[in-house]
Amino acid sequence: MPTYIPEPFRIKMVEPIHLIEPAARAAALKAAGYNIFGLRAEDIFIDYLTDSGTGAMSHHQWAAMMAADESYAGARSYYRLKAVMDDIFGFKNFVPTHQGRAAENILANLLVQPGQYIPSNMHFDTTEGNLRARGGRPTNLIRAEAYDPQARVDFKGDMDIAKLRAFIEETGVANIPLGMITITNNAGGGQPVSMANLRAVSAVYKEYGIPFIIDACRFAENAYFIKLREPGYADKTPIEIAREMFSLADGATMSAKKDGIVNIGGFLAVNNDDLFQRIRNELILREGFPTYGGLAGRDLDAMAVGFMEALDERYLEYRLAQTAYLGESLLEAGIPIIEPPGAHAIYMDAKALFPHIPQTELPGQALAAALYLEGGIRAAELGTVAFGYTDPDTGKEILPALDLVRMAIPRRVYTQSHLDYTVEVLKRIAAKRASYHGYRITYQPRLMRHFTAQFEPL
Ligand code: F0G
Repeated sequence: MPTYIPEPFRIKMVEPIHLIEPAARAAALKAAGYNIFGLRAEDIFIDYLTDSGTGAMSHHQWAAMMAADESYAGARSYYRLKAVMDDIFGFKNFVPTHQGRAAENILANLLVQPGQYIPSNMHFDTTEGNLRARGGRPTNLIRAEAYDPQARVDFKGDMDIAKLRAFIEETGVANIPLGMITITNNAGGGQPVSMANLRAVSAVYKEYGIPFIIDACRFAENAYFIKLREPGYADKTPIEIAREMFSLADGATMSAKKDGIVNIGGFLAVNNDDLFQRIRNELILREGFPTYGGLAGRDLDAMAVGFMEALDERYLEYRLAQTAYLGESLLEAGIPIIEPPGAHAIYMDAKALFPHIPQTELPGQALAAALYLEGGIRAAELGTVAFGYTDPDTGKEILPALDLVRMAIPRRVYTQSHLDYTVEVLKRIAAKRASYHGYRITYQPRLMRHFTAQFEPL
């Protein structure tokens, strides 16, 4: 039996959730064009669509929001956030942004020219979308084991350093305006990146003079994996590990909706002063003055408190154990997942669960639909719909190596019984797997199609 660590908090505010009737679920899904993004949230029982902005804030965060300063420029809230930013991330400059993709947009707009390449372990969809929107070519250079769902390695999010070096040599430094890494690697199972790998990536980028930007969405969870798994870090605190990680980079983009445990917020941080001047000007044009960046003062205060709470060891111990509990319980039930479990989500291997559905018929979409129909559960397809694309050079349709369905666990929201219910629903689906069919796309936009695509069952 996988073990469950009791929540290191108790509940003092509740929000009712309901499981609507099977016929109502079928009607709701059809009306949404079989895209789970199109469902009304009130028609969902357990929502694993994302861990982004869906966390429960603490009483300290709510109290800080009440004491916020809503001045347009130079608010106390900004300086409280700045003190925390300096303490954890330590970059010379930062601006708040309304969320992660706003930071990505500014960075891509300022640095990326059409035809240029941007290496990373794996880019997440919004990063990829923002880079492609400027004509950039996001390139994933993750270690090979990441594509083997059953490979149990400690740091499955690590970049392949030999591949990175060869890639830079082939592509030429002039064609690489920046290099990135995503911690943890959301597009590949929420797997952590080791400090050793961050150090090696940093050294290679430095050697070639390529600015190194960390996508820091889940930095606290990554830091705790380093503490648990990497030799030499067992006695360090998560904040010490975080400081070391960011000392290796030239900047970071962050969606604070993850490890800031806020409903909205993010930042863009860089050491380079000239680049920062341009960032500020761009921010003023699109987001707001540099001391609020499209957020209210109260959002800045919630972030400042949230970053520190996300680094609390008791919280992180429970957080990683909760996700592992769901993952190990599914494995016991014979449901294939990406192993080992990551920090923020469990990724089911839809091709392995539904081997009778060819990848072109979207097994991940079929599993996401099945979860809702069978149990009122919402989970996100991160497979052929999310990551399939047309190659700009050849015009060929490229299918991703994995067809995954992600159950992202909102922070401090669901309990053990919600996870047990989820396992029961998946057992029922697995027991009648042969009865499920694939899907066909009837509408799709050019970029990030999974959010608004429409489907038809086959
Ligand atoms: N980078 C990573 C690794 C992410 O996971 C996300 C968002 C972003 C950037 C963009 O941040 O949403 O604040 O603009 N991921 C969410 C998810 C949406 O569900 O994984 P954002």
